[in-house]
Amino acid sequence: MKYAKIVATGSYLPKRVLTNTELEKMVDTTDEWIRSRVGIKSRHIVSDGETLLDMLAESAKLIIERAGIKPNDVDGIVVGTTSNDYIFPSAANLLQARLGITNHCGTFDVQAACSGFIYAMSIAEQYIKTGKMKNVLVLGGEAISHYINWKDRGTCVLFGDGAGGVLLTGSDEPGIVSTHIHSDGQYKELLYAANHWHEEGDMVKRPQIVMEGKEVFKVAVNTLNDIVTEVLEENNLDKSEITWLVPHQANMRIITATAKKLGMPMDRVIVTVDTHGNTSAASIPLAFDTAVTDGRIKQGDLVLMEAFGGGFTWGSALIKM
Ligand SMILES: CC(C)(COP(=O)(O)OP(=O)(O)OC[C@H]1O[C@@H](n2cnc3c(N)ncnc32)[C@H](O)[C@@H]1OP(=O)(O)O)[C@@H](O)C(=O)NCCC(=O)NCCS
Repeated sequence: MKYAKIVATGSYLPKRVLTNTELEKMVDTTDEWIRSRVGIKSRHIVSDGETLLDMLAESAKLIIERAGIKPNDVDGIVVGTTSNDYIFPSAANLLQARLGITNHCGTFDVQAACSGFIYAMSIAEQYIKTGKMKNVLVLGGEAISHYINWKDRGTCVLFGDGAGGVLLTGSDEPGIVSTHIHSDGQYKELLYAANHWHEEGDMVKRPQIVMEGKEVFKVAVNTLNDIVTEVLEENNLDKSEITWLVPHQANMRIITATAKKLGMPMDRVIVTVDTHGNTSAASIPLAFDTAVTDGRIKQGDLVLMEAFGGGFTWGSALIKM
């Protein structure tokens, strides 16, 4: 098969919505500060025992239903995540069982922080193009609220939970045009969550996200500019040919800066950071499914997805719908 084509999308958000007003009661912050610095009004957070697997399963069931296939037609599952409940088995492996897939297809997770979904797409694309797999579920999901320090105002206002994804199928018609993945491992100190459990009083606490926000911001803006240039040059494209930009949803100011670089009016940029927050590897598939479902992204459109995350990792996917 010449291409890996997106044939269906799906996503899931937890019911519990955490507003800026609620955060004002938890840390020294204001709704005005969060909106103006980051562009977030609210985010969804898992509650009542809801897990990453639950969110992935809801997304995947929707994708399978919309694609009109049976669970056992799926012959690969790749999940981008940093917040699986288990060190092993992988979330993809757990999902296979939850979906009742019994065909022994290959399943694995990809850990590339907020770029996880783009990395997962890039890997799935290779398996499809070489004919090793035909129908691959590619998902990004995070229960990242588990790893938030709810006393740190610099990070706790930024993140949210959710999951989403696509079904990639082998096709002779255009689908993924190109994917690009990169990393530079020297920036660990700026954004990380160490796998260290620690005691606080008589409680055992999970690992927590640590971030130097200002420094991350600077590298993110510069790197995302480079991503755009790389995609355009490699595909001999003019920026005016891109129909939609689906950026990683970390910060409205970063999104606006990238759109400006592309010369793209904001009404051609998919923005969900205002109500989703930064959902890490879930952010692009959540935004993408939102815009496909509400009819903005249509057949024939040229879509550019781009991501940036801890490590640092970054990447993009150019897709003909
Ligand atoms: C986190 C971020 C919003 C902070 O915005 P900023 O303009 O850089 O703000 P600074 O970190 O310089 O902090 C400015 C002040 O606001 C304060 N502040 C930080 N968080 C705050 C909050 N939630 N509410 C109110 N004040 C806050 C800081 O303590 C600082 O106060 P000080 O000047 O008294 O020390 C911004 O740096 C950012 O978005 N970075 C990128 C983060 C990101 O995208 N990470 C994920 C990448 S995948």
